Amino acid sequence: MWKISVFYLLITVGVNFVHGNVQADDIRYFLWNRDTNQERISINNYGNNIDRNAPVKILIHGWMHDINSFWYSNTRQAYVASGANVIAIDWSRHSQQIVAISINRLPNLGEFVAKFVLGLSESQGIPMTRIHILGHSLGAHLAGFAGKSTQRMGGRTLGRITGLDPADIGFTNAVSTQRLDKSDAERVDTILTDAGIGGAGINRSLGHVNFWPNGGIAVQPGCFYYPCSHNRAPIYFTEGILSDLFVSTLCSSYTQYFWGTCRNNPRNIMGERTNFQVTGDFYLTTNVRSPFARG
Ligand SMILES: *[C@@H]1O[C@H](CO)[C@@H](O)[C@H](O)[C@H]1NC(C)=O
Repeated sequence: MWKISVFYLLITVGVNFVHGNVQADDIRYFLWNRDTNQERISINNYGNNIDRNAPVKILIHGWMHDINSFWYSNTRQAYVASGANVIAIDWSRHSQQIVAISINRLPNLGEFVAKFVLGLSESQGIPMTRIHILGHSLGAHLAGFAGKSTQRMGGRTLGRITGLDPADIGFTNAVSTQRLDKSDAERVDTILTDAGIGGAGINRSLGHVNFWPNGGIAVQPGCFYYPCSHNRAPIYFTEGILSDLFVSTLCSSYTQYFWGTCRNNPRNIMGERTNFQVTGDFYLTTNVRSPFARG
């Protein structure tokens, strides 16, 4: 309850006094692939190094973070090794605000990210289906807003969005137009790792495929301090870029999964290799430390 009241208080402050004021240059985009490192690119200025035959992976950090977000370098290295283009976004100008202000600006920020993506797809001849945005925490909802905007502004749908422990504050009861939703891309997957009481992650299935490691509980195995559990989602996903060992089972709850009721249900793989033909909620357990996957 207190969380909700604080949220509404902050959102009121945010809306009334610091109304969204986002400009294109506030968001910075850096490209990495086998040919280039941390090359600054921007809307309609994509340089000469994008590999037009490779997938594009766009990383969006969460609240308070910036280009040095804890997960960027490992995720980037795993993807670059796989041959992909990686574009890491820095939206710290707006992420480093009180949370209600950051939230308030997400739709506007999403429009700029959408412009960037539409321009990238058109100028480089890269089909939208090959463009994948991964967002952590508030960044997951920002990815969602970007996906809504590519459809609204350009009539084109993003290939995939991965929501890495999408933030709960202000989003738990939000309607689909106000948060990440499965209609935001052709394929939407989420990983929930901080969904329990006191956690920063949402307890809601927003994607076509939703993974609940260890039931999505707010204290993931091996975690003792905030935000360890919230940060596990990108860490698990990154391990799942190079491995297909996060075998998960379709089930109606973690309890049912735990007692073996779902043992004959369809499986899926958490990480890059998720199969979007089998949708729903998937459960798995992990190790307490890396490598987390148990096969
Ligand atoms: C999410 O909400 C459901 C329904 O209220 C509850 O049963 C479940 O335990 C919650 N999950 C977590 C991880 O707290």
